[in-house]
Amino acid sequence: MKTRILNQLRAASGIISGESLSAEFGISRVSIWKHIRKLQEIGYNIIATPKGYRLIDSLDALFPWEFPGRESKIHYFDEVGSTMEIARDLARKGCPDFTVVVSGKQKKGRGRLQRVWLSSDGGLYFTLILRPKIPPVLCFRINFLASQVLAETLRTMFNINAMVKWPNDILVNNKKISGMLSEMETEADLVTFVNIGIGLNVNNDPTHNEPNAISLKKILNHEISRKKILSEYLDQFEKRMINPDFENIIPEWKKYTMTLNQSVRIVTTQDVTEGIAIDVDENGALILRLADGSTKKVIYGDCFLQNT
Ligand code: BTN
Repeated sequence: MKTRILNQLRAASGIISGESLSAEFGISRVSIWKHIRKLQEIGYNIIATPKGYRLIDSLDALFPWEFPGRESKIHYFDEVGSTMEIARDLARKGCPDFTVVVSGKQKKGRGRLQRVWLSSDGGLYFTLILRPKIPPVLCFRINFLASQVLAETLRTMFNINAMVKWPNDILVNNKKISGMLSEMETEADLVTFVNIGIGLNVNNDPTHNEPNAISLKKILNHEISRKKILSEYLDQFEKRMINPDFENIIPEWKKYTMTLNQSVRIVTTQDVTEGIAIDVDENGALILRLADGSTKKVIYGDCFLQNT
C-alpha cells in the first residue's frame, strides 16, 4: 500500500485529497492517514493540509518499494555490520538469484585483502547475490562483468570518465570511486552463489580517511540519487546476466581499463611485484612483464599504478 500511495503522490502535480486516495484504494480515509503517518515517520516529506496530502521532495530512500518489480528481492537496512554477512546468510538459506542487500551505512564494512571499507552516510553499499549455473572457474569473469557494467552505468548516467583498475576498482580522474569484493560458495563443481559487494562513494566524503578517493558529489558538485544509480545498475547488470557471453567479458572489460601497458606494483599479503601490465588473461589474471624480461601471472593483489 505504501508503494501505491507514494506512486499516487508522485504522479499528482499538487495536493491529492484523502478522499480520492481512499476511493482509489478502497480503504478508509483513516487508513490512508495511518499510511501517510508511517511514510512521514520513515522520512518522506509529506505535507498534510485540510485539502489533502502533498509529497514535497523525493527522499533518496533505498526501501524495497522504491524499486518497483524488485520489491521482494531488496533487503534494506539503515545500518548493518556488513552487507556481505547478511547476504551470505540469505544465500545459504536459499534466497533467489539477484537478491540485493543494501544498507544506509555499515559499521564493519569490509574491503579486499582484509581492509576496512569505511561506510558513512551518503554512500551506496550493497551486496548482490547471484546464482549463475556455471563452474567456479568462470566466476571470476562475473566480477569483471560487474565492474565493467558499473563503469558503463556511471559513464552513461553522469558523463564521467569512469575507468576500471585491475581487478575491479572504478576510478575517475585517477581517484577511487568504487571498490568491489566478491565471495562464492560451490558444490559439486558448480557455483551455488557468488556474492558481489559494491561500495560506491556517492554523497559521502571518503577523503578524510582515503585521500586518494573521490565521490560523485565532489565530481558533479551536487547530490546524487543513490536509488537511481542502484536501480539503473541492477537493470543493466541483470540484462547482461541473462545469457552472459563469457568469451567476451574480459575483452570488453579491457576497453575500460587503465591498467594495461602501465608500470604497476602489485602488493599482496605475501609479496610485492613490479612490472609492466601487459595483459589480463581469460580468467582475469594480470600478466606482468618483469624487469628481467620474463612474465609473471598475478591472480590477486592491490594494484598501484607507478606513474600516476
Ligand atoms: C575494496 O575495494 O577493497 C572493496 C570494497 C567493497 C566494499 C563493499 S560495500 C558493500 C559490501 N559490504 C562490505 O562490507 N564490503 C562491500
